[in-house]
Amino acid sequence: MCGIIAYLGEKPAYPILMKGLYRLEYRGYDSAGIAILNKELTVIKTRGKVSELEHFINGKNLHGTIGIAHTRWATHGEPNDVNAHPHYSQSKNLAIIHNGIIENYGTLRKELIHRGYEFRSNTDTETLIHLIEDIQIKEGVELVEAVRIALNQVIGAYAIVIISKNDPDMLIAARKSSPLVVGIGEGEFFLASDATPLIEHTKDVVYLEDEELAIIRRGHELKIKTIKNKEKTPYIQKMELNLSALEKGGYEHFMLKEIFEQPRSIKDSMRGRLNVKKGTVKLGGITEYEQKLVNARRVIMVACGTSWHAALVGEYIFEDLARIPVEVEYASEFRYRHPILNEDDVVIAISQSGETADTMAAIELARDKGATIIGICNVVGSSIARATDAGSYTHAGPEIGVASTKAFTAQITILLLMALTIAEKKGTISRLRYQEILTELEQIPEKVTETLKVNDQVKFIANLYKDSRNALYLGRGYNFPVALEGALKLKEISYIHAEGYPAAEMKHGPIALIDEEMPVIFIATNKGTYEKVLINIEEVKTRKAKIIAIVTEHDERVAELADHVIEIPETEEMLVPLLATIPLQLLSYHIATMRGCNVDQPRNLAKSVTVE
Ligand code: M6R
Repeated sequence: MCGIIAYLGEKPAYPILMKGLYRLEYRGYDSAGIAILNKELTVIKTRGKVSELEHFINGKNLHGTIGIAHTRWATHGEPNDVNAHPHYSQSKNLAIIHNGIIENYGTLRKELIHRGYEFRSNTDTETLIHLIEDIQIKEGVELVEAVRIALNQVIGAYAIVIISKNDPDMLIAARKSSPLVVGIGEGEFFLASDATPLIEHTKDVVYLEDEELAIIRRGHELKIKTIKNKEKTPYIQKMELNLSALEKGGYEHFMLKEIFEQPRSIKDSMRGRLNVKKGTVKLGGITEYEQKLVNARRVIMVACGTSWHAALVGEYIFEDLARIPVEVEYASEFRYRHPILNEDDVVIAISQSGETADTMAAIELARDKGATIIGICNVVGSSIARATDAGSYTHAGPEIGVASTKAFTAQITILLLMALTIAEKKGTISRLRYQEILTELEQIPEKVTETLKVNDQVKFIANLYKDSRNALYLGRGYNFPVALEGALKLKEISYIHAEGYPAAEMKHGPIALIDEEMPVIFIATNKGTYEKVLINIEEVKTRKAKIIAIVTEHDERVAELADHVIEIPETEEMLVPLLATIPLQLLSYHIATMRGCNVDQPRNLAKSVTVE
């Protein structure tokens, strides 16, 4: 949700922190701040984006080799200068940055006010730094111990870094349910919400576990202990990321780059897993749990947003191929119901970031009920990847644009590979059919490349509809989740109201919205319920809506009815979402840019939603 970066070493901290903030800005961008220690502990923060902070700092003296910085997505307290992080303690001897939510901050705040503490902001975070200072004074303990004691009193989620004016050679960090990674360089340390700002500096990283404290001291080795005071040995891992994956590579926006990366990202999802010649699929990460999946009474897929749409496609694929009943649940709903779950159920948690709080909570619930949990994540080493029994990474590479694009197609690819594995083991698919799907799947990256050629046509169509106030996306079968995803993409980056609906369901209500002003986007490819969708298109046309249709190449029947047709290559019905999604991603991208919207950082959104 928020982005954290901190540095302790021999180099000037300011440029490292500022660059780190830009890298992390996709996580939150309503305000930003920095604290640098050089005799004085200077905090500078402002509402707005990192560039505004940089502009604001311009010329101010920020020398020092130790500092912390933060880019925020507001939860408690509106986004303004005062609520931006870092927050000082009462004495201004300490400063903190925080990602997460302190759920019991109300009670703690009242007690602290009662004890004479004055609050400058409306944030939950300020409560924590006052609490730490209070414990330090009241109990006469070292700062590390005060942090540890305070964290035992806190309910909620946190990734924090604390800097102290009285100790220019130390940073203290801790995490629970919000990610934090320590980078270890030559005589220097970094702390960050994810590995992206560390890549230029080091490949050696330690992912902190829940309720762990990291004590970083100049000239000493990294020390880790739990908040229950148990010493831990840091597990240093080699980070596998390259710089080009984090840069725009000549594209105007990350989102466009990521849309155009899909031939490669889908291929990477299949690499080493799909072998058409041998007629095999091997998902190494779930080998030990294959039998669990084969014997599963039921599969429950939990996810949020775009990942939830991928799960819906997965439901169709699993039921078609592996003949296992599947339920798809919004993680946020699942966690607060009393779901009936038992040991024969397999829960598949899908998440690009691997940090989504609701999905994480759904996993915890499923674990309590004894279900097996499989993860499908993009971010390596993320919390969800670590919390599941087994799983498969999507290997789509870093997705920086807030609107999810390549992660969606990669998730569907993994779900396909998983369903094929189970179907083959269960004997619910013939050898011939299995081989046919494998062969077609291997062709998909090329067909995505082919599909991307519609970009100019889509741009032309976008220009005609960029001023629309509403849009309706309709599809059936495998194309229904595609319609949902198309609508989500449009609304989140262009702020045009859009709805996705099963095409036949339209006549039960949404048809009332249709008039000559309304663009209706049909996903009308040539398999499954194609004939039925033609009838739905007729119904819309009669009501004078403007029709944009995604069709299979050489289709003539939809062309007779639609105002615009966008062709995608012929493929298996279950693989259509991998192609049909592409023009919809491009359509929302072009409309949003034409409307002057910030497509990579849409308003009110953040890349990973680590709070409820
Ligand atoms: O990281 P996750 O896949 O768990 O994220 C889930 C949603 O927050 C995410 O898909 C969100 O809906 C995107 N903004 C969609 O583009």
